[in-house]
Amino acid sequence: MAEPLPVDSPDDPRLHDYTDLTDVQLRRTREPAEGLFIAEGEKVIRRALEAGYAMRSMLLSEKWLGPMRDVVESATAPVYLTTPQTAEAVTGYHVHRGALASMERAPEREPAELLDGARRIAVLESVNDHTNVGAVFRSAAALGMDAVLLSPDCADPLYRRSVKVSMGAVFAVPYARVERWPHGLDALRSAGFRLLALTPRAGSQPIEDVVDERPERAALLLGAEGTGLTARALAASEPVRIPMAHGVDSLNVAAAAAVAFYALTRA
Ligand SMILES: C[S@@+](CC[C@H](N)C(=O)[O-])C[C@H]1O[C@@H](n2cnc3c(N)ncnc32)[C@H](O)[C@@H]1O
Repeated sequence: MAEPLPVDSPDDPRLHDYTDLTDVQLRRTREPAEGLFIAEGEKVIRRALEAGYAMRSMLLSEKWLGPMRDVVESATAPVYLTTPQTAEAVTGYHVHRGALASMERAPEREPAELLDGARRIAVLESVNDHTNVGAVFRSAAALGMDAVLLSPDCADPLYRRSVKVSMGAVFAVPYARVERWPHGLDALRSAGFRLLALTPRAGSQPIEDVVDERPERAALLLGAEGTGLTARALAASEPVRIPMAHGVDSLNVAAAAAVAFYALTRA
């Protein structure tokens, strides 16, 4: 059992993993470089552990000792006990969920590893907003997508905000980065996937037509807010649209993902 260790000073070097959590620029480079990510809140911490991620340490306020006793008792990493005020001084924000864990990143996976046995894959191009990435993963998990592939410039699924918005779904759906973009997508086509580019453009095939064709294997490409999919990604795939009403020109990428995942996972 790990005996919780009281920490009083925000400058204690043992809390280094938790410093400046609100500095997005700093954290998005620091965390991958140091091989860590932050899980926030009881549910998310439990899901990270269940998914097999190793804990580096945990930072708790007193009132979370009870609800998280089993996690504390089985922890092999140090558990630091502090006040909400000290936690705020370290992290830069009021930690509403009262519990943070610093977790070890696993080695990144290769796209080819995820194709075996997969039928439905989401492919994100330049989706660089952590909230959208988290929301796409949450839908991907809930609606039964088999994997998520990311272009090199997509936001980090293990960044705190993505993890939190996904409610830990980033641990449940396997993902990988496609380093050679968009040429790396050729491997999907060779493996028998239909590449379907989700775009609101008029003239694209309505998604229900594709659903009627019941594709054996399908990869759904989704683009960023504002710019949408690049011309190169569109040229490499079949354009498919979700019909819109009331003159709305497009859906938020995570909303479009949920609709398309639902349609394609039932085809
Ligand atoms: C906010 S939209 C981008 C809008 C951008 N102006 C465009 O033309 O693609 C973000 C992403 O959500 C998906 N999306 C949004 N609305 C869609 C729709 N009606 N049909 C298919 N995909 C849609 C697309 O993948 C798009 O790249």
